[in-house]
Amino acid sequence: MNQDQLKQAVARAALDYITPRLSSDSIIGVGTGSTANHFIDMLAEIRTEFDGAVASSEATAERLKGHGIPVYELNSAGTLEFYIDGADESNERLELIKGGGAALTREKIVAAVAKTFICIADESKMVGVLGQFPLPVEVIPMARSHVGREIVKLGGDPVYREGVVTDNGNIIIDVHNMDLSRPIQAEERLNQIVGVVTNGLFARRPADLLLLGTANGVQSIP
Ligand code: 5RP
Repeated sequence: MNQDQLKQAVARAALDYITPRLSSDSIIGVGTGSTANHFIDMLAEIRTEFDGAVASSEATAERLKGHGIPVYELNSAGTLEFYIDGADESNERLELIKGGGAALTREKIVAAVAKTFICIADESKMVGVLGQFPLPVEVIPMARSHVGREIVKLGGDPVYREGVVTDNGNIIIDVHNMDLSRPIQAEERLNQIVGVVTNGLFARRPADLLLLGTANGVQSIP
């Protein structure tokens, strides 16, 4: 199977996992990216079996609506049973790097609200130590230079993601070569820099379940 087929397989596994656990008033949190897009397209198959969804980006909201799935504002949604999303990297503790698609802030908010965060990813995303994928950081535009200098002090190499504006009107700095061997500490330290909105480490709130697409089938971790 190629990478896209592995993404489809984990999207299907997530759908199979949640379907028997849904009720007619369930609202599902939905992530952003190519793996999440496969999940959204499959979610359309069961759209009469749940109430609607909360989207982690404008792109996801549009795709959900295109399938006739009602999209709710998070503030009016109440409880979210599940959040389903992809990742750029995961370690064995299901601590993640996310934000390759620049949606990290809304993704982190929806993940924080959901009772169960199911990460869906192909096996290329599994790593021993996080950080080969540059860590995305969402930054208030006027703080770009200041945040860059502070990241250098932490040992990272900041690279401004040219031409990208997030759904929240901010910019993205991708951090290369930073030591992320202690992900919770790194997440907290980056959050303390004035001007940082969010960073793409999902370590304080890791995924609860990782459905990993491999050549031998979908692995469920833990
Ligand atoms: C978007 C994300 C995505 O989940 C991450 O980039 C993975 O994307 P894909 O499923 O396309 O490989 O965090 O901000």
